[in-house]
Amino acid sequence: MDRFTDRKVLVGIAAAVVLLGASSLWFNRRKRIPPKKTSLKTQLSYEQAIKNFQEAFLVSKEHMLLIKQSMEDEFKLGLSKVGENDRKSSIKMLPSYVDVIPSGKEMGVMYALDIGGTNIRTLKCELDGYGNIKSIFIRKRFVSDELQKGSAEQLFDFIAACVSDILDDVTEENKIGFTFSFPMDQSSIDSGVLIKWTKGYTTSGVEGNDIVHLLSEAFRRAGINAKITALINDTVGTLIASAYEVADHNTMAGVILGTGTNACYVEQKANILKLEPQVEEGVMIINTEWGNFDSPEYNVLRPTQYDIVVDKNSPNYSSQHFEKMVSGMYLGEIVRLALLELSQSKLFSHNGAPPIITPHMFGTAYLSEIQRDDTPKLENVEALMNRIGLPNTTYDERRLLKELCHAVALRSARLVASAIAAIVDRVGKKETECVVAVDGSLYEHYPGYGDNIQEGLRELGFEHVILRLTKDGSGNGAAVAACVMSK
Ligand code: BGC
Repeated sequence: MDRFTDRKVLVGIAAAVVLLGASSLWFNRRKRIPPKKTSLKTQLSYEQAIKNFQEAFLVSKEHMLLIKQSMEDEFKLGLSKVGENDRKSSIKMLPSYVDVIPSGKEMGVMYALDIGGTNIRTLKCELDGYGNIKSIFIRKRFVSDELQKGSAEQLFDFIAACVSDILDDVTEENKIGFTFSFPMDQSSIDSGVLIKWTKGYTTSGVEGNDIVHLLSEAFRRAGINAKITALINDTVGTLIASAYEVADHNTMAGVILGTGTNACYVEQKANILKLEPQVEEGVMIINTEWGNFDSPEYNVLRPTQYDIVVDKNSPNYSSQHFEKMVSGMYLGEIVRLALLELSQSKLFSHNGAPPIITPHMFGTAYLSEIQRDDTPKLENVEALMNRIGLPNTTYDERRLLKELCHAVALRSARLVASAIAAIVDRVGKKETECVVAVDGSLYEHYPGYGDNIQEGLRELGFEHVILRLTKDGSGNGAAVAACVMSK
């Protein structure tokens, strides 16, 4: 072959290779092009979608054990001496300065004030010395969004006005127990500095300041003759209200499962290494602030993509991760985000409808109502959907929605079971009867929620734990605290 023929052959081979390569690339690309997102999703059957949600929100026994262990480590770290470790615990473990557990024999007529979510409650009640907290009257006022996001002066003037409404005798100084359900740094029973707002509050001028001082100033401005004698967290109120009512020494913890979530428990003072000065004798209630668990890392709780969005859109981004997966303020929002995705993929109609596209418009109360519906075709869910502006849903859509709500609430209950187990382990009561006082609308009203916690506890080997609903524990506990701590 001459050089010319040589070149022709080479060019021919090269052309063939290029052609082959190009066609195979074209062929492969065609094979690799992913189906359009929507078409992929519309191909998903309702059964598959339900299964996907069940898997995404599953908390297995192994995962519960991991959470429990990690929480116990955080408890220990949170109790250690300040500055002793290179890392801070995500669980603050705040000393409450409540170091007397009521016996049920305390007596007196007390005033109490309770603020922690969307309402302020003021109450007057009588402790009869036989474990009964008789309410003389209770008033409830709504805390508007403007107040929650306004200035300290506006908020505390409003609280002072609520207090003024209930006082009978203004000639002598009225002693009041105050439940303030946000994380506070306390160095005594009648003072506390707000560390950080939670649950959507952003009122300016409060973080870093003493709550009792802010309220006393508001009392002074309004000419109110009153003094806060005990400042407590709602979990502490729940624990001591229960201890007062059942008058035994088995109530070891108080848990709130409502708009937010948190727990407190009875700790040996000798174990609270950060207490200054160090005390060896006696007990003190520790407000754990477990709602902040696994923040900011978020690597133990295993969030879904919806949890990540809930966190990103919240005013307290990167904190309260446990609370955002558990409590009433967020469960409806998680479901709404999943619904948004379903409506875009045509598994749920009403793409673009306000309850689906508006943050926090799909409330957790809807989830309870959906869960409660046992009619064969989910007619009550249908009625609810009609009422909130999502009419003409199919049975498949309603079934999917109900399963989604169940998966989200079940996950919440199993996370709580892991956390309660961590506390019961901490107080060394795994083998004996141990009462955990619980208050909050999620626990009280969500169908089957308490049973799911109890089932999770059983799986973990904590069958002796008794969850005791302590209604109004948060407010009543403030009255008990004022009575006990003034003695
Ligand atoms: C607060 C806690 C409170 C809990 C329940 C959380 O957001 O940080 O202090 O106990 O909500 O009300």
